[in-house]
Amino acid sequence: METYPRFRINEMIRPLMRKKQTWRIALIANLIDDFTRTPDDPLDAGAEFDRRQTIESISTALEAEGHKVIFVQANSALPEVLMKVKPQICFNIAEGISGDGREAQVPALCELLGIPYTGSQVVANAISLNKTMTKRIWQQLGLPTAPYYEFTSLEDAAHAELRFPLFAKPAREGTGMGIDNRSIINNHDELFARVGWLLSNYRQPVLVEEFLPGREFTVGFIGNRGNPAYRSRPDLYDADGYHWFPILEIDTLSSVSPTIYGHDAKSLDIGTEGAPNYLCPAMISESLRARLIDLTRRAAEALDVRDVSRIDFRLGADGEPYLMEINTLPGLNPLISDLCIMAATEGMSHQILISEILHLAAERYQLFSPDQASKVKNQQQLNSYVETEHKIIK
Ligand SMILES: Nc1ncnc2c1ncn2[C@@H]1O[C@H](COP(=O)(O)OP(=O)(O)O)[C@@H](O)[C@H]1O
Ligand SMILES: [Mg+2]
Repeated sequence: METYPRFRINEMIRPLMRKKQTWRIALIANLIDDFTRTPDDPLDAGAEFDRRQTIESISTALEAEGHKVIFVQANSALPEVLMKVKPQICFNIAEGISGDGREAQVPALCELLGIPYTGSQVVANAISLNKTMTKRIWQQLGLPTAPYYEFTSLEDAAHAELRFPLFAKPAREGTGMGIDNRSIINNHDELFARVGWLLSNYRQPVLVEEFLPGREFTVGFIGNRGNPAYRSRPDLYDADGYHWFPILEIDTLSSVSPTIYGHDAKSLDIGTEGAPNYLCPAMISESLRARLIDLTRRAAEALDVRDVSRIDFRLGADGEPYLMEINTLPGLNPLISDLCIMAATEGMSHQILISEILHLAAERYQLFSPDQASKVKNQQQLNSYVETEHKIIK
């Protein structure tokens, strides 16, 4: 018996979805210009915050589709401002200011106020900021990640049973903060010195892992699990609901911090002296590519992420890929962010990338006009009927 071909479904829905919907959008971010470092902060504090250029590019992309965009700072005034602005949806890129789950603050507030928002939700954003907790979950699922130990004090150093060389980083930072040439640790003296320095400067636990000596890759995607047939651009997604960007290799050998993609290397503009080489698509075998994508899918689904993410990998001494960390709020600067480099490589404009992230979220919240929403619902029912039938036939 013949199954219902997928392209027939897409054809049926495409005309329906062409009707454009526009919304009042709060673009929520932490601007680097507004960050003031206190004497107690580490020298690279604020590195995760966004440049004005990123805000402008995202606004331009959203406005080009007819949306009204209001930029809102993710600070203590945010609850009041959101209640005034009354956005229909928030485009969230805020890193948060303080606290152990700071990247989950805006999602939590949006949940409290009942406002839809783009990207991952509270739990995924809080866990992914915590690299140790993320590794515990991956490890529990049998996903490959380097052996590690988390130091909350220097006394812990005596208990660590890891093999040198090691690699130390703050457990809850990003953008290469606290990572430089001294992150690689060869003996106990270096371990004490570096862990002590990280504990006192970053005032949070220190994640010490076995050093992964191999090539470095980052894998990015947009999408959510599920039939993409009723999305506004179903052609962009695989049948399982994801769009995989070309894999990016980061070659740091001739950078300011050879073999390490730390804060200094990340802050240099592409092509300038000391910046890493960004190789996209990475020259890798089809089997390694498939393995990296499979691991990314499983690692992301383990945390229940939404709409967009990027996962960093390195190859171990055995030549196998190991998960380092997940970025549920990957940088979206059109010129320097890894995810935007990947999208540009395959010819996806920044505008489409931003528009898709918005539409993926809007679709999850069924943020369409009542008329359109009911039609979409009917189509979803049809799709799930077709899928069920397909399964039975198989
Ligand atoms: N276990 C490790 N072995 C080797 N290099 C590592 C290891 N962990 C991190 N690094 C290096 O440090 C960089 C930053 O680490 P990562 O965990 O991705 O944190 P960030 O959130 O700062 O990007 C990586 O891109 C990689 O170059
Ligand atoms: Mg990283």
